[in-house]
Amino acid sequence: MKLVITKNYAQSAKLCSEMIMDVVREKRDSLLGLATGSTPIQVYDYMVKAVKEGNVDFSGISTINLDEYIGLSNSNHNSYFYFMKKFFFDKCGIKQGKVMIPNGTADVNMELERMNNYANSHQIDVQLLSVGVNGHIGFNEPSDRFYDQYHIVNLTEQTRKSNSRLFTSIEEVPRSAITMGVGGIMRAKKIAFLATGEEKLNAMKAILEKGDVTPEKQGTILKFHPDCTVFLDYAVAEKITPADYVEIHRV
Ligand code: GLP
Repeated sequence: MKLVITKNYAQSAKLCSEMIMDVVREKRDSLLGLATGSTPIQVYDYMVKAVKEGNVDFSGISTINLDEYIGLSNSNHNSYFYFMKKFFFDKCGIKQGKVMIPNGTADVNMELERMNNYANSHQIDVQLLSVGVNGHIGFNEPSDRFYDQYHIVNLTEQTRKSNSRLFTSIEEVPRSAITMGVGGIMRAKKIAFLATGEEKLNAMKAILEKGDVTPEKQGTILKFHPDCTVFLDYAVAEKITPADYVEIHRV
């Protein structure tokens, strides 16, 4: 695992976006694994800017998303489909036929089959990732096991509460979601992991410090990934004592 300690979140997002774009520059038909949430927004902003300036060409890429809330339609402003269209797809001209995102209102079993068929027959070239307050990646909530495939998950009250900032009230936050399993995340060739903010400190400690890989903090499994780079700003990183096997780069 590599840890890039940056001056601030903006620099982390820029470097993270550069890592993803380098993959696409090398292989124009790359499959990008994409994530939602507040943390990756600036990564998308940088990539959109690079497309407009002619510094990267996304016309050959395909994408697959980590997760979606069950019960929210594609046109719901809080759905991850809507998020992706707003921050990335529409701005970069990425066609719907190149995009895989679980549909939150379709038949759940059919949706799991559709996502798993695709995920099991295509390798992600680079996966953009961030973490939840409780250490979840995608929507893989604390559990007694690691899931391999896309599956349905009940969201914890903590996750619902922390994501409720984007909804009008907590009652509106769905109680379940469909998410890629950590198995799918771990099969990505490369992971570009971005985190920021004091509220993520405990999750990042579990991932970067010496300690067990445990399904109670699902992100800890990234310790086993052969090519995972974490971008973290100094304000959070200075409170962490990375394990000896973490390769540290200060920029
Ligand atoms: C959601 C997503 C996660 C994301 C997390 C953190 O729960 N399912 O993939 O990492 O939010 O979001 P934020 O970046 O807004 O803190």
